Amino acid sequence: MAKTVETKELTEVSEAQIAVHWKEEEYYQPSEKFKAQAYLRDPRIFDRFGLDRFPDCFKEYADMLTWFEPYRTVLDTSDAPFWKWFVGGKINACYNCVDRHLDKYKSKAAFIFVPEPEKEPDVVIKYQELYSRVNELAALLRGLGLKAGDRVTFHMPMVPELPITMLACARLGIIHSQVFGGFSGQACGSRMQDSGSRVLITMDSYWRNGTLVDHKANADIAVRAAKDLGQDVDKVLVWQRYPGKYSAKTPMVSGRDFFVNDLLKDYKGKKVEPVALASEGPLFLMYSSGTTGKPKGAQHSIAGYLSYVTATSKWILDIHPDDIYWCMADIGWITGHSYIVYGPLANAATSVLYEGVPTFPDAGRPWRIAERLGVNIFHTAPTAIRMLRKLGPQEPRTYKYHFKSMTTVGEPIEPEAWRWYYDEVGKREAVITDTWWMTETGGFLGTTVPAIHPMKPGSCGPGAPGIHPVIYDETGAEVPKGSGKAGNICIRNPWPGIMQTIWGDRDRYVKTYFAKYNKKPKSKDWRDWPFMCGDGAVQAADGYYRILGRIDDVINVAGHRLGTKEIESACLTVPEVAEAAVVPVQDEVKGRVPEVYIAVKPGVPHSQDIIDRVVKANEDVIGKIARPKHVYIVPDMPKTRSGKIMRRVLAAISNRRDVGDVTTLANPDVVEQIRAMVQGQAVVATQEALPEDIAKFGEVE
Ligand code: WTA
Repeated sequence: MAKTVETKELTEVSEAQIAVHWKEEEYYQPSEKFKAQAYLRDPRIFDRFGLDRFPDCFKEYADMLTWFEPYRTVLDTSDAPFWKWFVGGKINACYNCVDRHLDKYKSKAAFIFVPEPEKEPDVVIKYQELYSRVNELAALLRGLGLKAGDRVTFHMPMVPELPITMLACARLGIIHSQVFGGFSGQACGSRMQDSGSRVLITMDSYWRNGTLVDHKANADIAVRAAKDLGQDVDKVLVWQRYPGKYSAKTPMVSGRDFFVNDLLKDYKGKKVEPVALASEGPLFLMYSSGTTGKPKGAQHSIAGYLSYVTATSKWILDIHPDDIYWCMADIGWITGHSYIVYGPLANAATSVLYEGVPTFPDAGRPWRIAERLGVNIFHTAPTAIRMLRKLGPQEPRTYKYHFKSMTTVGEPIEPEAWRWYYDEVGKREAVITDTWWMTETGGFLGTTVPAIHPMKPGSCGPGAPGIHPVIYDETGAEVPKGSGKAGNICIRNPWPGIMQTIWGDRDRYVKTYFAKYNKKPKSKDWRDWPFMCGDGAVQAADGYYRILGRIDDVINVAGHRLGTKEIESACLTVPEVAEAAVVPVQDEVKGRVPEVYIAVKPGVPHSQDIIDRVVKANEDVIGKIARPKHVYIVPDMPKTRSGKIMRRVLAAISNRRDVGDVTTLANPDVVEQIRAMVQGQAVVATQEALPEDIAKFGEVE
């Protein structure tokens, strides 16, 4: 075990690599009480999962699942880098999450649904009821002619009907594609088109910040957007937030829209055998932003994915069947898929499912829920931690809950926020695991094993068992640990949770994640295919990684990835806009928020109206989450002589920094004009270094 490091190291800037200014934080040890009860406490696990044992070490993960037919090959690399795990096996994800628990746990709660309005009672769904509801819905979907391999898109809020619908699809082998409920109808429609979904499953309404939102309106927009892109949608299945009652104003479209609760009447008590599916069949798609304007559908497998999230839920989240676990993420993101639905259910967990925003009606809400339900494992993101800290720093003290373990995910967490989480939320009793990973990776990549490693604020820790990270510089040379230098973090080896491909775009998969560091494109040897995660990172002498942020022009807004190009193309839907550039700005609560610069077409007067329509365009095309903090109309974009927009210069201006030397630009004068417009006439820029993701922003073209 690493010893406590007292030294405060300040690293140097190197010309070839990213500068990293960072002081080493001290360690925090897990309590003896936590260690004594943890599933995984033997450090020899890291020998068992050493690279010399790869890939057979992952048989241990497959053994946590129940198989209809055993697999023959652990890892098939014949179509590298399209890895196939546990080939030859037959399995069903729904069976593993529901059916197999009935003997022992049928009367145990799978979900406790907490509606946002505090006066509405909780809804407990026991495993037996989950089984019945999933079966009835699977029978309905089958009755509509849906079958294994078909794609169905969901645009659902945080309600129990969402996991029920996911599991019903999984039971039949239908590939589900849940689009985050807060995304716009248009964003949903373009994802329907990409995945080729003819069926949309949604809900009429849901509670958000005290308002019952008309969500059905988004379904109509989605269907229209999909059709404009060439994808017909035959059916819209509408769940009702209040069964039997329609809670939206938007009318149902006859012949196309159906209430799920009406259709279900014909399927009461029906059972559907879980289909024995090939291990490497796809389980779901999850769309995520990248460098280009088009989101990519990360395709996840049945057996590999499920084994990975099952094992990490058990070993890292340490969920035991008698725990009450609450992950506050939205199921519409990968965190919810892996660590609300599939991982916890495969472990027969009891999960809290909360409909609304954490601060509704006040910043004590999460702690009231935790106290009332006896939550002892809590999982959230830095943006929520920062917000709860800002609005109610002492609220946790006033509630009598006790967490044994807490997780943070989605963004780097500042040591300050980490310590509040530890001292106040965790009451210095709970361990914290800072889990670093991404949509594409299915489950955790970098994390401490909470009963084995000490915690270090701001660092995720070493690689998870069986995950072997490496940091490469731009030339492909390994950046040694303790060097204080950062580079691109990659994983040397495949693992069962890794995505299989980008839906419909094999080339993009290879290009995005492997091309940069693969030297032998024909190789079938996994050693030739390190997976490039898309983050900058630095490794301290103790082996812990600190994640610096995306390197691919993705802005991480409150833990959600938004593509620069997606935002810019939304701005360009306003006809007066000639050019648009978006940059990330540091934000106290959300981490990063987008700020937009636009140049209008010749002769168009600058007006507030254009700004308002640019804001609205972002909300309509992407969702409210993409709402820019400011929109500035500039006389011209700062450009290189070859005409490339210098987003880096705009990012410096937006973040109140010095713009540096701009004399080589084609139009250096405009930089000062923009600076004065944003920062004011007086020089207010600080010399303080920018965070790496912002400093490097705009370098990928
Ligand atoms: C960032 C979310 C620092 C990172 C699971 C990554 C993190 C992106 C952490 C993926 C963490 C996630 N520390 N940064 N613990 N976890 N990130 O696909 O930049 O929504 O690449 O998956 O979030 O976001 P995604």
